[in-house]
Amino acid sequence: MPMQNVRTTPIEGQKPGTSGLRKKTAVFRRPHFLENYVQATFDGIGGVEGKTLVIGGDGRFFNDAAVQIILRMACANGAAKCIVGRGGLLSTPAASHLIRLRKADGGLILSASHNPGGPDADFGLKFNGPNGGPATEAVTDRIFACTQTLTFYKIAAGEDVDLAQLGTHKLEGMTIEIVDPVADYAALMQTIVDFPKIKALFAGGFTMCFDAMHAITGPYAHTILEDMLGAPKGTVINGQPSPDFGKGHPDPNPIWAKTLMDKMYGADAPDFGAASDGDGDRNMIVGRGAYVTPSDSLALLTAHAHLAPAYRGGLAGVARSMPTSRAVDRVATSLGIGCFETPTGWKFFGNLLDAGKVTLCGEESAGTGSDHVREKDGLWAVLLWLNILAETGKSVSDLMADLWAAHGRCYYSRLDYEDVDSDKANSMIDALRVRLPMLAGARIGAMTVENADEFSYLDPVDGSKSMGQGLRIVFEGGARAVFRLSGTGTQGATIRLYLEQLETDPARLQDAPEDMLRNVRDAALELSDLTAITGRTAPDVIT
Ligand code: G1P
Ligand code: ZN
Repeated sequence: MPMQNVRTTPIEGQKPGTSGLRKKTAVFRRPHFLENYVQATFDGIGGVEGKTLVIGGDGRFFNDAAVQIILRMACANGAAKCIVGRGGLLSTPAASHLIRLRKADGGLILSASHNPGGPDADFGLKFNGPNGGPATEAVTDRIFACTQTLTFYKIAAGEDVDLAQLGTHKLEGMTIEIVDPVADYAALMQTIVDFPKIKALFAGGFTMCFDAMHAITGPYAHTILEDMLGAPKGTVINGQPSPDFGKGHPDPNPIWAKTLMDKMYGADAPDFGAASDGDGDRNMIVGRGAYVTPSDSLALLTAHAHLAPAYRGGLAGVARSMPTSRAVDRVATSLGIGCFETPTGWKFFGNLLDAGKVTLCGEESAGTGSDHVREKDGLWAVLLWLNILAETGKSVSDLMADLWAAHGRCYYSRLDYEDVDSDKANSMIDALRVRLPMLAGARIGAMTVENADEFSYLDPVDGSKSMGQGLRIVFEGGARAVFRLSGTGTQGATIRLYLEQLETDPARLQDAPEDMLRNVRDAALELSDLTAITGRTAPDVIT
């Protein structure tokens, strides 16, 4: 089979963001776009000659064609072996596990996570390193540098590989092993949570609804929840992955997982509800009439993780991204374990996990995970919750009430202003940044600023520094507002405003979050001048 060196020139806009490169599908399908980025990735990691790579994606439109291109390029670049999920499918956490299990040199994951899929929607590609985690900033910087100097890429010509057949195939000198995408992941879950205990819970009539949102976790959830744990058939809804996610947003939050929310707040609601995103790394947890914020979920899991076999000896420490609420900090303090605050994005947890400094970590954006892989893991979070529900015999709302009674409640919400003119978004952030050092002591409406700064992070493991990671304004009385620009959008800029208010008064632990957050929201909007600068009077999405 002929190998080709195809001449190319650098293509603009190939800078990886919070989680790899994300673009409109149509952009990824332009001539050379994907190929350039794949070659830059290979070059950026020092070549793939003789290496083993894991390859799989969330099944969105273009997943299959892109896997074929990547395989032919891996072959032409001299890779020894590619391990591919059957059909080109792997959830992000399953890919992370497979990289670690097989001691691969890394992996390419095709996904734009919770963004919609289809020819007019979004596509993405990210590289994960040998530890199974997203490439570090140093690696993504090198990949980006390679995209800017590329003059050719290498690709083998030839027929498509049959991805449907399990087993070993050959593509020139390269071995392709097609594996069951679910089996190894399911086996890993059995070593972490108490399957017999959860099985007994379901056998006792406990009811659940898992919304796979037409995305990758469908097959994983059917196998684990229904086949292995005995949850009744029909527990998993929207379990058949589709290339456009049933034309929805595979984003597990109360807005996009509305079917599930309606069920959980309706008559005859199941005991437990959960959803996962496009590539299976996010999760939403909801009890009967009780939505759990991702920040609270992280705190709850931290408080009760010792009930699961894998964490029986306690947690080494926990970490959360900076905009995530400080609920977990309070639990960590009471457990006497360390709590790290990192920039947004899973890649910053990798070093802490590798160094054994933390066991659990999470983000406000519906991501929770542990040291079992180096990605956030949606189904794992659901299983850990089930383990805790089974061990305590309590309902989700009772568990939350207990947590708030013990530690106070961090009321929390995120406001997203999407597709804002990039210049306007940047000028709003720039103007606020300049004023931060002068804000301490300022009174804005009902609030007084305690301190304000721009978050930067010094990695305690490798000493690397990440600047410009969000503007935070802390108010007296336990409130906080954070502004940052999204690094995953594919159109214009997305401004994220994160709001938090701590409440410890036992009489005020069941109030409406929008009421509890009104003052901090108004103060943040006034301080930033968001409406005047961007012309936006209301957020597009509130979670
Ligand atoms: C968003 C989330 C962030 C998450 C990332 C990848 O990034 O906010 O927590 O790690 O998606 O799933 P952002 O768009 O805010 O840069
Ligand atoms: Zn995701």
